[in-house]
Amino acid sequence: MTRHARIAHPKLKSRIMSAEDAAGLISDGMTVGMSGFTGSGYPKSVPMALAARIEAEHAAGNPFRVKVWTGASTGPELDGALAKADGIEFRLPYNSDPIAREKINAGEMNYFDMHLSQVAPMAWQGFLGKLDVAVVEISGITEEGALIPSSSIGNNKTWLDRADRVILELNRWQSDALNGMHDIYYGTALPPNRVPIPLVKPDDRIGQPHFTVDPEKIVAIVETEAPDRNLPFAKPDAVAEAIAGHLLEFFAHEVRLGRLPANLLPLQSGVGNVTNAVLSGLMDAPYADMTAYTEVIQDGMLDLLDAGKLRMASATAFSLSPEAAERFNADAARYASRLILRPQEISNHPELVRRLGCIAMNGLIEADIYGNVNSTHVMGSRIQNGIGGSGDFARNAYVSIFMTPSTAKGGKISAIVPMASHVDHIAQDVHVIVTEQGLADLRGLSPKQRAEVIIETCAHPDYRPALRDYYARAMAGSFGKHAPNLLGEALSWHERFVETGSMG
Ligand code: COA
Repeated sequence: MTRHARIAHPKLKSRIMSAEDAAGLISDGMTVGMSGFTGSGYPKSVPMALAARIEAEHAAGNPFRVKVWTGASTGPELDGALAKADGIEFRLPYNSDPIAREKINAGEMNYFDMHLSQVAPMAWQGFLGKLDVAVVEISGITEEGALIPSSSIGNNKTWLDRADRVILELNRWQSDALNGMHDIYYGTALPPNRVPIPLVKPDDRIGQPHFTVDPEKIVAIVETEAPDRNLPFAKPDAVAEAIAGHLLEFFAHEVRLGRLPANLLPLQSGVGNVTNAVLSGLMDAPYADMTAYTEVIQDGMLDLLDAGKLRMASATAFSLSPEAAERFNADAARYASRLILRPQEISNHPELVRRLGCIAMNGLIEADIYGNVNSTHVMGSRIQNGIGGSGDFARNAYVSIFMTPSTAKGGKISAIVPMASHVDHIAQDVHVIVTEQGLADLRGLSPKQRAEVIIETCAHPDYRPALRDYYARAMAGSFGKHAPNLLGEALSWHERFVETGSMG
């Protein structure tokens, strides 16, 4: 491919510059809206150059920190490099980078962990402040100056619209065949002018394939040829396989009872190895013509597409292993007609999740015996990643399922506890909890009924006697008997872990 081949707009070719020069356009204190969602489509070279510049300024005794907004998690060249340089003052809406996590948990970086569907509306409403610069990875520029998106959409439309100035990273590693796969909806508005979003099937295209941007705002184009941060998925272990097995049995049961159609309902699959194992399990299940309306397209979804089991998938980003990314890039044109990438305010929109009747499948950190779920805070205080899209989907799903191994850290932590040390998903938004021990269908159950089924079905046998004992004493001694608790003792399991390194 010849240089500039992906920049068809003649005037914009003159804005090509080095990453260092582009990073020089960002100053201390600025708010920067970056592309990137679950390790795909994030800028790879300007953030690195910015981190180097920040380190040089710090060495010279000058302050330099920026506020960083993204779609969700990114990669080591963005969050890792900037956090290592101590260059991030504030971060939203989701992080999974270990260096940034350490800074946040050490109290050195402010982090606004928020529902992913709400980022764009909040930016438009002005609640988040002013956006100075957008740094957005794209895969090409058309003759008319429209931008061909990359492997994630996230909040890019909003950053391009709202930022004073735009820096583009044109990544030639991304497949040409991405062109046409995206559906950018420009019909959102603020109250009182909102109208229904005209999407009634996961397959519907309601927008345009490219971003529209004022070319005068584009101050720099940096060319790159760098892969996304594609992490391998672990081969499903016995625990993940057992969880997947319980869930597949549940689906079969629901189909038999006529509560799910024969091709299920649009699947939403959260991040992580367990959810990927469930997708693998669906390969051998008797479902065809399935659809996905979800956040990310993982390896398991490509397998299901290849096997003809999944008709199509709608998401906002890819989240593939290196092998699957290679497979996708080698054959992108074939996948293109069956995949749609949308802005995250649409992929995660509560109105659409409720209308489509998604089956939501997400991971959890801990659940309490009444079914309240903590997805984010270890021991109530250390952030793991963030709520991400789990709230967007869980509250609005047709069936909201949470999955976890019954213990963590080699058995020293029970995932089922008397009281959750932080609550992201209230019991009303948690329909089903699955561990390798079993599946608890909580729909229609009172708190006491939920406690009995969660303890007896989901908890690890090593922790069941202590949970039964707590519950029995709470029934006898609680202030109220609707959801019995012993307030002085409810978080003692967490205290014990913090003090001794084990809940047991
Ligand atoms: N106490 C302490 N640590 C716990 C824990 C608990 N009860 N449960 C899990 N963890 C730790 C694990 O030990 C592991 O830590 P490590 O990386 O140091 O080994 C880490 O959390 C991840 O757990 P794992 O069992 O590998 O599960 P996962 O990859 O499925 O992740 C969540 C689970 C909850 C962290 C993950 O699903 C998440 O971030 N969810 C919130 C966002 C979300 O749901 N997004 C999808 C919406 S579309």
